[in-house]
Amino acid sequence: MKKVILNDGNKIPLVGFGTYKAKEQEGIEAITTAISKGYSLIDTAAKYENEEAIGKGIKASGVLREEIYITTKLWRENLGFESTKTEFENSLRRLNLDYIDLYLIHWPANAKNYDNWQKTNADTWRAMEELQAEGKIKSIGVSNFFREHLEALFETANVIPAINQIEFHPGYWQQELVEYCKSKNIVVESWSPLARGKVFGNEVLQAIAKKYNKSVSQVCLRWIIQHDVIVIPKSTSPNRIEENINLFDFELNAVDMEYINNLPEIGFSGEMPNNWPDKV
Ligand SMILES: NC(=O)c1ccc[n+]([C@@H]2O[C@H](COP(=O)([O-])OP(=O)(O)OC[C@H]3O[C@@H](n4cnc5c(N)ncnc54)[C@H](OP(=O)(O)O)[C@@H]3O)[C@@H](O)[C@H]2O)c1
Repeated sequence: MKKVILNDGNKIPLVGFGTYKAKEQEGIEAITTAISKGYSLIDTAAKYENEEAIGKGIKASGVLREEIYITTKLWRENLGFESTKTEFENSLRRLNLDYIDLYLIHWPANAKNYDNWQKTNADTWRAMEELQAEGKIKSIGVSNFFREHLEALFETANVIPAINQIEFHPGYWQQELVEYCKSKNIVVESWSPLARGKVFGNEVLQAIAKKYNKSVSQVCLRWIIQHDVIVIPKSTSPNRIEENINLFDFELNAVDMEYINNLPEIGFSGEMPNNWPDKV
């Protein structure tokens, strides 16, 4: 698997496995299948309530801990210095691990929910920096941060986030934010790379897939990695799990990249960092 070098020198696989909604036995089976098909990056979050299942799946796979790359996330209702430390230890315990490869702030504090959102994010980040210095986290990053949240964080941060995990798929790819992150040496990771299935009905994507003799899913994921963005598709089907990692025997040409870049909105989740808990 190709790897991307982060701004802290650590490496992350370019293609990983999403686990949203994969709970209990389904989660364990999805992880063991994904690992057997060649995935090493597993994306979970405290909010998904599946960290225990993921931990069991990793153990059941028999793969060495160092060969697996685990991302988990601090939920947005637990921001703040002390609660970050507590919640991190809870995630570690549930996953049954002694370190995390990548820990993310799942959503930033925002003006709607916090009197001083800048301070809340800064305090959260300071706790994460300490956990990283203690060796409990290899890389620290954020998720769903807009430029304004990043700029505010830079005021006090000693460590620049290694990753910003954001909604990014054909029909909604936040190009300006992606360019800003890249200019700051922050790697972008795409969530919902298949727009939770909403890409499949698009005729442009279907035609491109036919031309390359690939599936619509493979075309979407290939388009994303050709933007140097990490993908973490989720599936419960062994065949689709395998299909989603087989992305390296074809390349989209510049014209087709442009067609996909310019697609009208498809499948935007409506989730906005400045608006939670409501959608737009
Ligand atoms: N940071 C955040 O705020 C955030 C937000 C959302 C998601 N995430 C992360 O991103 C991961 C991926 O996003 P997601 O789960 O929302 O959606 P997604 O990966 O865009 O789409 C998953 C859906 O697509 C289907 N699918 C997958 N591969 C397919 C294929 N090859 N052919 C046909 N259908 C296919 C799956 O169905 P089957 O299972 O039936 O195959 C499932 O219904 C999540 O699991 C989570 O880890 C993070």
